[in-house]
Amino acid sequence: MDNILSEKVIIKEVFLNAEQIHFRVKQLAETISNDYLGKEFTVISVLKGSVIFVSDLLRNLKTNCSVDFIRLSSYKGNESSGVVKLISDINENPAGKNLLIVEDIVDTGFTLSYLQKKLLAMKPSSLKTCVLLDKYSSRKVPVQIDYRGFMIPDQFVAGYGLDYLENYRGLPYIGIISR
Ligand code: IMP
Repeated sequence: MDNILSEKVIIKEVFLNAEQIHFRVKQLAETISNDYLGKEFTVISVLKGSVIFVSDLLRNLKTNCSVDFIRLSSYKGNESSGVVKLISDINENPAGKNLLIVEDIVDTGFTLSYLQKKLLAMKPSSLKTCVLLDKYSSRKVPVQIDYRGFMIPDQFVAGYGLDYLENYRGLPYIGIISR
């Protein structure tokens, strides 16, 4: 039985097309490359949503880095529960390293705030954060964002790694979900 939600019904409009996303990701990669020139650093990719963003970002960096992954969850359906769960942790010890968190979207800020506090407690040499989408008007806790792709309104979006009920991560664009 076909239980895939129809893209045409659920995505009410394209918010960012593939070209707009790639242009901005290249700009972010250039800024990050310049800022980390001559420095060793580790990208911490937040799964699952950042998987496509981090792949494109890494391929556009002009400087070498190592990569680690962390999997967190705070969403129930399309609402943030406010309770962040650690599903799987980073592999490398971050102490003394320059860390760059790469996250798909910041909404309430609970997830990023949890991660920033967790990593800071492990005494890295520096900690910066790069997010593709900033849903700034939904913020409930303040978070530090050093590199930001796009500011977006309070709408639920999917595509380019972001899901709606685990669907649409593979779309090349970011669309607004009708609800
Ligand atoms: P926060 O803790 O409320 O800031 O939510 C962060 C996490 O919620 C992100 O890492 C996403 O996984 C998810 N999220 C928040 N808004 C959206 C959205 O519009 N589309 C898809 N996922 C979202």
